[in-house]
Amino acid sequence: MHRVLVVDDDKVLQDTVKNALEYHNFQVDVANNGREAVNAVYREQYDLVVMDVNMPEMNGLEALVEMKKHDPSLIVLILTAYSNVTDAVKAVKEGAYNYLEKPITSENLVALIKRALKARSLVETTAFSAPTLSLGSDSADDKFVGESSAMKKVFNIISKLAQVSTPVLIRGESGTGKELVAKAIHYNGPRKDEKFVTINCGAIPENLIESELFGHEKGAFTGADSRKIGKFQFADGGTLFLDEIGDISPAMQVKLLRVLQEQSFSPVGSNREVKVDVRIIAASHKSFEDMIKEGTFREDLFYRLNVLPVYLPPLRERTSDIPHLSSYYINYFNNVHGLSIKGFSDEAIAVLQKYSWPGNIRELRNVIEHCFIMESQDEISITSLPASVLSGGPKLQESEDGNSIIDFQGIQNSVLDVTRSSDGLGDYTFQFATKGEGDKVKLDFQVAKEQFEQEFIVQALKMNKGKINQTALNANIPKKTLLRKIEKYELNPKEYYQ
Ligand SMILES: Nc1ncnc2c1ncn2[C@@H]1O[C@H](COP(=O)(O)OP(=O)(O)OP(=O)(O)O)[C@@H](O)[C@H]1O
Ligand SMILES: [Mg+2]
Repeated sequence: MHRVLVVDDDKVLQDTVKNALEYHNFQVDVANNGREAVNAVYREQYDLVVMDVNMPEMNGLEALVEMKKHDPSLIVLILTAYSNVTDAVKAVKEGAYNYLEKPITSENLVALIKRALKARSLVETTAFSAPTLSLGSDSADDKFVGESSAMKKVFNIISKLAQVSTPVLIRGESGTGKELVAKAIHYNGPRKDEKFVTINCGAIPENLIESELFGHEKGAFTGADSRKIGKFQFADGGTLFLDEIGDISPAMQVKLLRVLQEQSFSPVGSNREVKVDVRIIAASHKSFEDMIKEGTFREDLFYRLNVLPVYLPPLRERTSDIPHLSSYYINYFNNVHGLSIKGFSDEAIAVLQKYSWPGNIRELRNVIEHCFIMESQDEISITSLPASVLSGGPKLQESEDGNSIIDFQGIQNSVLDVTRSSDGLGDYTFQFATKGEGDKVKLDFQVAKEQFEQEFIVQALKMNKGKINQTALNANIPKKTLLRKIEKYELNPKEYYQ
């Protein structure tokens, strides 16, 4: 419950304001003049002060200055008569949050108080002890946010890893921030003034990756019409970030292992040995244990890389970071779009914290950008959230055979009767509530579950162009389950081929 101090020498007004605020669940104390108010603020902890200007003993302006000296974050709202507005404006310059002209209505006052408290909570969340990890750029895109104990541990590990040159393997689901970790390790250690070079092993065709990594001599292969330096040499003295290392071929794995052991290599088409001093940071969202079992990833390379592992937990396991990340991105998008959205409503934050975030922080960022487009008020309400988020999203659970299965628990927390369209992914229509007898709303969990399941699978197929393996992987559905559901809902993946 928020504590408010009401300061006015007019007893009637004092009482009226007190009653109105108590009615809205504030805990209210009163003071009769500025002096009493300052004493009270020194003695007690208030969230907010509502104060008149003209008062005996000490006026509101003087009291404001004293209070702010004691507690700069204290919110002070000034009540003023029309004739005294200049004083109120002065008060705002001295740090009052805002002023209200008398006669005041309780709705206006309560609305202003709520806005002020909300603004403060946003400031508090953005001003949390931001980790001092540098990411080597001033871009707002590149800030590490995290207050959860899991992330504090990660920050701690990063600061230690930054000081040594041993290889690092960063693991974590897609969108959890693996690239940020790699940058943080580089930019907080002795190599920070040297290059940080990234190569996305999954994006480079198999036949080009060797030359990308190690360079080639002129004429080494068709099309190699000049000599080229590879990423290893380019990153000499600095860090090479091998992103999506789980995607490299077994042949390349052997070559990488050799560089890791010997810190030297030969460019394609050459017998020359090139010695380099490169720190390797590798990352993948794939399961190395599975890949090793399947024989697609060399165990020796894995152990070589995994000397110092960093694991980034998925966002659904650190939901306490969601408010911090949200205010960070709200600030960011306010700047980008020139808007002044204050934040999410409490209800909306609660929904965000219940959602399972399969795409992790990248998805949260996209959802917030989506909300900026949908929302017309200065606070993002649940009606602006995408239906996929409102429905709670798929929850992953272990099934008996050890595979992940989707369980649609999230739907229980979802909102009734949500209709959304064209948020870039297509149309969603969930009609969880149906009209029962006598116009009574009837909820049917089984119906809702099936609707959601079907919609989810259609969306997943669409996004993955009807490819079964890809859909199963990206939407985190075991292939067998996916095939069963496709059959159950009589879906035709071919429809989504492109
Ligand atoms: N803790 C964080 N604070 C702020 N932004 C973050 C954080 N973690 C991730 N992000 C942002 O989320 C997005 C995804 O992060 P990043 O690219 O590092 O994830 P990733 O784990 O490499 O994902 P993928 O496996 O898909 O490559 C980026 O825009 C990044 O800036
Ligand atoms: Mg990445």
